[in-house]
Amino acid sequence: MSNTIQKNLDHKKYVVSSKLQYFKPHATKIEKTFAEEISSSLNQDFKFINPKFFYDKKGSDLFEKICSLPEYYPTRTEISILRKLQPKLSSYIDENFRLVELGSGTSVKTRLILDVLAKLQDTTEYFPIDISEILTESSEELLKNYDDLHVTGIIDTYEGGLEFLKHFDNKKNLIIFLGSSFGNFSPNDGFKFLKKINSTMKPGDLFLIGLDLVKDKQILESAYDDSQGVTAEFNLNILSRINDELDADFNLQNFLHHAIYNKEKQRIEMYLKSLVNQSVVISKSNLSLNLEKNELIHTEHSHKYKLSQIHELLDNVGFEIKHTWLDDNKHFSVTLVSKCV
Ligand code: AVI
Repeated sequence: MSNTIQKNLDHKKYVVSSKLQYFKPHATKIEKTFAEEISSSLNQDFKFINPKFFYDKKGSDLFEKICSLPEYYPTRTEISILRKLQPKLSSYIDENFRLVELGSGTSVKTRLILDVLAKLQDTTEYFPIDISEILTESSEELLKNYDDLHVTGIIDTYEGGLEFLKHFDNKKNLIIFLGSSFGNFSPNDGFKFLKKINSTMKPGDLFLIGLDLVKDKQILESAYDDSQGVTAEFNLNILSRINDELDADFNLQNFLHHAIYNKEKQRIEMYLKSLVNQSVVISKSNLSLNLEKNELIHTEHSHKYKLSQIHELLDNVGFEIKHTWLDDNKHFSVTLVSKCV
């Protein structure tokens, strides 16, 4: 990814081959560093760590493992819904659509949608948007399996990528946001994010969103506290990452993975519980942290929705609902919308 050949608005274009190119923002945006974010989020009464920090290499591998755990129903359920909607989706799209994915995937899910487009088109365009350079690997992987695929990766935040897309061209976009990743946003941030997607879309564009549904507390809690302890390892890995990258001395033995379903707020709440009174030094954040026994560090919310809430939310944002597909147990939903005109 070395030869820069063209500038495009705020993004620089890198051409790798006739089928693979990337865009990256010219200037690095002024964002808080990991050290600064940790310094402020752990230096208060309600301590938290932003879940975006889960996904270093080890965290991403652990998340992959979570997706195939027997207790973690969302991935396999969403895949079963996508298989079911494949023939239906082709009646909403035509040869002029490109696939835009929020997050980069080589997974079965991306392929299921690509297969629908590939059947309708001589060449298919795929635009993954991901902040991580992992996008480069996943794109190359996809190109091995699709002869007529052209990939344009946008290595940026979702917001930055959507802004790029808005000014790119007039081709129709099918934007997908799967896996109920939306559920990790706070309701407020989530609403703003959907507004951003809506304002990026042109009339005729489509948006497909996968959202997890409210269900039995026991099913939910075991999905986030599995019997093999993979989710616990995923949660605790965030402390290892702070140890490695911010020169800290968290002793992982002193923490417990804690996941509970808050029925009223309709969300799984994930925490790291301090098992003892302890102090931890995080050198690069200039922080000496005192934790009491049983004190909680919040790491993630995973919101669950009722179907009526999904429709109300999408309607409030300004989307027109085309169709919602569910699995037989009504555990998960996938909804296709267009922009209201
Ligand atoms: C990425 N996200 C949708 C997952 C979820 O289900 O909220 C993250 C996760 N956390 C623990 N298990 C999975």
